[in-house]
Amino acid sequence: MLIKQANDILSSEITDQSVYEERRRFMTSSIGLAVAASLLPIQSSVAGYGGKPLTFNKNSQFDTSEDLTSYDKITNYNNFYEFGTDKYTPAKNAQALTTDPWSVQIEGEVEKPGLLHMEDILKQHAIEERIYRLRCVERWSMVIPWLGFPLAKLIKQVKPTSKAKYVQFETLHRPSEMNGQKRAVLDWPYIEGLRIDEAMNPLTILAVGLYGEVMPKQNGAPLRLVVPWKYGYKSIKSIVKIRFTDKEPVSSWTKVAPNEYGFYSNVNPDVDHPRWSQSKERRIGDFLKRDTLPFNGYAEQVASLYHGMDLKKYY
Ligand code: MTE
Repeated sequence: MLIKQANDILSSEITDQSVYEERRRFMTSSIGLAVAASLLPIQSSVAGYGGKPLTFNKNSQFDTSEDLTSYDKITNYNNFYEFGTDKYTPAKNAQALTTDPWSVQIEGEVEKPGLLHMEDILKQHAIEERIYRLRCVERWSMVIPWLGFPLAKLIKQVKPTSKAKYVQFETLHRPSEMNGQKRAVLDWPYIEGLRIDEAMNPLTILAVGLYGEVMPKQNGAPLRLVVPWKYGYKSIKSIVKIRFTDKEPVSSWTKVAPNEYGFYSNVNPDVDHPRWSQSKERRIGDFLKRDTLPFNGYAEQVASLYHGMDLKKYY
């Protein structure tokens, strides 16, 4: 990644976040005990950050006692090279993107290829809130209340053939609205990929919002991937194409620097980036660094996917 110095934000928390967290704690403590199911119904937005509220269920399996990163920081400190290579311009430049209408092309090794319209995707999949840690390769991390649904649900719907070993994702290519695409910083469009079992893992979601509202444009509206045990760059934004294939996809970052960005990109404190150690990270908003956890703390759920693999070789 074209890294400057990790330039962490240390600005103060905003009130809206505490309102959201208070409501979240209340829901969990007062209702959580009484409800056997892991999904607690919450109606629409709880805090009001200015976006369109979404109706969602809270998936308490992915709740956390960790402090949430504030809405302000999540939406103003971004990596979205289509809108600039620094952390602060995507929040402004991404507002030029037209996200409605939006559709996603399904192609390759599937029985049901075709165009999925965003409004149908939203109708067909129950939206849940899942709080995940996001660990960027640049050594900063956040805790984000995503809204989304398991990618596995969409995959089952389009019925991959037995040849579908990998899933490739592609971001929109529209330089007229994505001003960063006028410069050849990356080989546009942004491409990412997963092995099919990684894509089907219950942790992997397609996200459509955060903090109770539709996805802010700078965070990858209207539809982005979130793979919490991998470095943040695998979580591709503003997806327009999903291709099922028998060949390992070559991601945009691997193309630029194959020795720095491998296909797997699992968060691994024991495998250094060629230019820096990955053993520590700074939670955005914190002063002190903390230890990075293998698979970003999700080892219990995903380590078995890599059983017998040399993770230094398959970085
Ligand atoms: N997706 C696209 N299309 N373009 C990008 O530049 N940046 C990636 C990932 N997805 C990126 C992208 C990187 S490097 C990170 S760390 C995360 O998005 C950041 O997500 P956030 O801005 O929502 O925190």
